[in-house]
Amino acid sequence: MTAVILQHAVVVTFHIVESVMSAVLDEDKRSIAELIANQKAGYSLEQRFYTDPDIYELEIERIINRHWILAGHVSQLPEPGDFKVLNVARESAIIVRAKSGALKGFANVCRHRGSMICQESDGHADKFVCPYHGWTYDIDGELFAARSMPEDFDMAAHSLNPVSVDVIHGLIFVCFTDTPLSLEGAKRDLSEPMAMFDFENLKVAAQKTYKIPANWKLSIENYQECYHCATAHPEYARMHTLMLDSEKRERVQAGMKAKMEACGVTDLYIDHIDTAARPGEIGYGYSRTALFDKYKTGSKDGGPVAPLLGDFTDYDGGASDFSLGAFSFLLAYSDHVVAYVFTPVDHNNSNCEIYWLVRGNADEGKDYNVSDLTWLWDVTMQADKEIIVNNSKGIHSKYYRPGPFSGMERAERTYVEWILQELQRPDPEKKPGPGA
Ligand code: FES
Ligand SMILES: [Fe+2]
Repeated sequence: MTAVILQHAVVVTFHIVESVMSAVLDEDKRSIAELIANQKAGYSLEQRFYTDPDIYELEIERIINRHWILAGHVSQLPEPGDFKVLNVARESAIIVRAKSGALKGFANVCRHRGSMICQESDGHADKFVCPYHGWTYDIDGELFAARSMPEDFDMAAHSLNPVSVDVIHGLIFVCFTDTPLSLEGAKRDLSEPMAMFDFENLKVAAQKTYKIPANWKLSIENYQECYHCATAHPEYARMHTLMLDSEKRERVQAGMKAKMEACGVTDLYIDHIDTAARPGEIGYGYSRTALFDKYKTGSKDGGPVAPLLGDFTDYDGGASDFSLGAFSFLLAYSDHVVAYVFTPVDHNNSNCEIYWLVRGNADEGKDYNVSDLTWLWDVTMQADKEIIVNNSKGIHSKYYRPGPFSGMERAERTYVEWILQELQRPDPEKKPGPGA
């Protein structure tokens, strides 16, 4: 009898706890929905978007695990067994050149008891051995050795879980969902500008990780605006014209356009950043902007740093911006490409991975040297890191209030509005939006 009463009490208590928890969860969701609804248009985001772990959880579900992220260039994995690892928030993917020669992606999570398998960031392997109990997978992700398991243990049912991998003109993209957004529009519309730089045949001449102790949105928002360039980046401001007023910028832009055709460069402008009109696809864009007159490329003195890319027969004095999804951005000069990938680590930390790409047949030491090639965007990123961290410190203060965007922060405004839209979008895989 006592046991029955106790059992009943446990069940009742469980239901009370369950309903309180779901009320708390509903309240959290509602308050996030209210926060989004009350966000003032044209102003920076409310403090909680940068500090609240619950909002970060929602971002993981609605944005971070749903969107494609640049993981490198196909030239980095030429042979079967060549691999690299991409870490994003709580996920980790092994991207490997499989036996067939195709690129495959696997969750870096052992099918025994879940240990992370691959600790290196890249390398060559003929098998992946879990460091915990030694389960061993081949380069196609299939389990082929597991000690002391029962006789009826089904090895074939314990392959590594696949992660979505695709390639856009030589650039490897990874996505942590089985139902990823379509890349077809980006592949089609960006094929012409990407062919001009011969993206398929570039190679990575240098790669560097910048650890930024700030929320991922602050890192990307900073990349989206050049209002800060005149104050924070004297090196960049000497050569790039993005911070000029529109009249002056039009003048230098006209000078570049006059040179473009003679240099084999097509004048293109693509703006499919806004995904609201194209649900189910990633956002993407392309534009070319003039450098100041004496600058041929993004280098210390404006002089060449590597052989001309693709179709270029000479320097037209421009630099192209590519935007590919929410986390990956490219800057293409006439002789090299700089790729920026921003990845969340946790709600207070993010990384920026920079790749410097040159012509595939360029030789280091003869055609380029890494210190000249990387100088501009290394000094610029160091300065960016400092201002992003300062921004983060101020945002954590009790005195922080959202402030108004300037006319030079339009792209950042579009980006934060897109974040708010995505946070309200129902999750196709499970839950409805906040407050729903
Ligand atoms: S967790 Fe990988 S072998 Fe046990
Ligand atoms: Fe900057």
